[in-house]
Amino acid sequence: MNMASFVKMCHIGDIPDPGHSVFEVEGRVVVVFHVQGEWFCLEDVCTHDGGPLGEGKLTGHQIACPRHGARFDIRSGLPMSMPATEPSAAFDVRIDEGMVWISSVPRPSGVAQGVADSVPPPIPNGSILPTIAPESVELTPPEKAIAPSGPIAEDVIREKLKEVIDPELFINIVDLGLIYEVFRQDREDGKTNVGIQMTMTSPACPAGPQLVAQSKAVVASLPGVGDVEVKVVLDPPWTPDRMTDDARDRLGIF
Ligand code: FES
Repeated sequence: MNMASFVKMCHIGDIPDPGHSVFEVEGRVVVVFHVQGEWFCLEDVCTHDGGPLGEGKLTGHQIACPRHGARFDIRSGLPMSMPATEPSAAFDVRIDEGMVWISSVPRPSGVAQGVADSVPPPIPNGSILPTIAPESVELTPPEKAIAPSGPIAEDVIREKLKEVIDPELFINIVDLGLIYEVFRQDREDGKTNVGIQMTMTSPACPAGPQLVAQSKAVVASLPGVGDVEVKVVLDPPWTPDRMTDDARDRLGIF
């Protein structure tokens, strides 16, 4: 991808940090976010029912739809709470000569922002860094990803699953103790199929389908991962003692 496939949006000084602004570009309405020195961009359309995300409240790296409150991670477009279950379209953002540029096509669904080009653009303003997310190795779009030389470690998969947040408790599903087992099976093409056995905090958990879909999406976005299967098991049932100490502290459970 080169700068020719990016569209100029605004000057870096036009959007405060933290802040966001709505732009119309090439027939699309998009929201550009500026958070902690980094830049992100989502389509200005909530996937639940078309709500204008740009009119929502930005909290950290999440934007809340003003219509029914679904929250989206601005780095990946993934839905973080009901009633949205599908990712919002997300675009790569680059900074060049003090201007904010947006990729003209969205990234693959649910993939967080990574390095858009192997040759970074010149950065004349030393105070602004190009947008490279901390997890940039994991964030390479799947079609460009180079499969790791060995099997994917279970730790890597569990770490990735921490991006999935329970919408009612606001704690990631790993620290909540919802992940029971992670299975891996190496394929001849060098990829690894992943199976995840997870549970819910209650059998009738309304967020269940969303947590399953998000778990599948984040693990599938890891370079080298092939098929991903997520199975919900209710036996043994989840109990609070499966949570990490940190999660218990955050929920005030001692
Ligand atoms: S339209 Fe966004 S939550 Fe319903």
